[in-house]
Amino acid sequence: MSLPLYVAALDQGTTSTRCMLFDREGRMVSLAQREHHQHYPRAGWVEHDPMEIWDIVCRVVPEAIADAGASPSQVVGLGITNQRETTVVWDRHTGRPVHNAIVWQDTRSSSVLAAVAAEMPEAEIQARCGLPLVTYFSGPKVRWLLDSSPSLRERAERGDLLFGTMDSWLVWNLTGGVSGGTHLTDVTNASRTMLMDLSTLDWDPELLAAMRVPRAMLPDIRATISSSGSPFGTTVTPIAGIPLTAVIGDQQASLFGQAGFDRGDAKCTFGTGGFLLLNTGSTPVRSQHGLITTVAHAMEGEPATYALEGSIAVAGSLVQWFRDSLGIIRSAAEIETQALTVADNGGCYVVPAFTGLYAPHWEPDARGVIVGLTSYVTKAHLCRAVLEATAWQTREVVDAMNADADVPLRRLAVDGGMTADNLLMQTIADFLDIPVVRPLVAETVSRGAAYAAGLGAGYWPDKQVLRRHWKRAAEWRPAMSAAARDSELARWRRAVELAIAWGE
Ligand code: G3P
Repeated sequence: MSLPLYVAALDQGTTSTRCMLFDREGRMVSLAQREHHQHYPRAGWVEHDPMEIWDIVCRVVPEAIADAGASPSQVVGLGITNQRETTVVWDRHTGRPVHNAIVWQDTRSSSVLAAVAAEMPEAEIQARCGLPLVTYFSGPKVRWLLDSSPSLRERAERGDLLFGTMDSWLVWNLTGGVSGGTHLTDVTNASRTMLMDLSTLDWDPELLAAMRVPRAMLPDIRATISSSGSPFGTTVTPIAGIPLTAVIGDQQASLFGQAGFDRGDAKCTFGTGGFLLLNTGSTPVRSQHGLITTVAHAMEGEPATYALEGSIAVAGSLVQWFRDSLGIIRSAAEIETQALTVADNGGCYVVPAFTGLYAPHWEPDARGVIVGLTSYVTKAHLCRAVLEATAWQTREVVDAMNADADVPLRRLAVDGGMTADNLLMQTIADFLDIPVVRPLVAETVSRGAAYAAGLGAGYWPDKQVLRRHWKRAAEWRPAMSAAARDSELARWRRAVELAIAWGE
């Protein structure tokens, strides 16, 4: 009897890294996961240690394969998905990073934005790459790093340093590192660097000049999925011989994992942040309402599929902050149990503008506020306001999406860790006034990477097969009066204005 075959996903996220194996029915058969440290060297700075992440990858990949009772030869392909924008620069000769990874949330590059804008007007940048000139994306982070040290710039120009988002760092290491690793990225990740032209899907020399990033340090860009062998190479370490058949940014992966293959499909993932993506087909739609244009996926030999994205910087990380920094709750789940003990927020609103406000505001200098405090407000009211902050931010990006798209969203497909919180899901349905649906497998990021890798490896013949795997697990219907929603929305908007004003 022949042994079962599997496809693997490696999901390198903001707080943890996991590896999962999936079978032909799209069922997860094993999972290995480890968290890495968050470093906050200064207010607004967030770093990860790329070597710590690589060590974790070296542990979780073999663990997941062993947990499935499989041998590496039963894994037909590995798909890498990752936190996007996070910037790693390393020495190609030693394999050592020259600096900790500068995480997507990090705002230190605000100091270089004016210099970038002096070289290319913001509107021109946005027209080329689909992104506003803010600290979120990789280009300004690389510029900050190379500007910080003449010797780093010199080494980068000589071709001794390599730049990559987490996918590139991992592909390079998995395929041999200093002994011949491939230096590659895919279009979805490249579309987050602020260095790629959205229509040519290649590095844009003028954006590179504005960002002062030498071409020599950039990876080559590949399609997300290719049916010809393993376009991203084959693993050498920690296990040899697994074909790397797909690479895809994590939010694009979750759209893929929700079977959001076609124009009009949308999803919202609630993890560290919140990310709403609407598939716009083969046309890159330019937002008039504060959304960004990004690549959803690209199959080699076919036109790329684009998406409009509403990115929320802080969602689950607000709950984490309540738990780890303030100690108000002991576990993330307690936010819901506390919030359920009260009927409303007691007049209190939390705007978590910890790294400015992302879509649709793009106010990098905004800072978090808690308003409406009276002695009536309890811990339970604060917990409710924390949940509502995620729901209101979702409402803001859905409003922007509806204003940009021809057809309004009629339901919202959700996924990610926070979807376990029923009160939050109900609140989102109430604030959006549309049903919210969650699929049976909420692990859509890994599932999407596995889908992409499996299509590349020929494990699944086409996307139609994958669409049949999608099953609804839960649905929340709106149950809030329009009058209550409108008056709460007006208060939330006043709180947002305060957060923006605080940064001015
Ligand atoms: O753009 C940032 C995003 O990719 C991070 O996702 O799930 O690691 O918080 P996550």
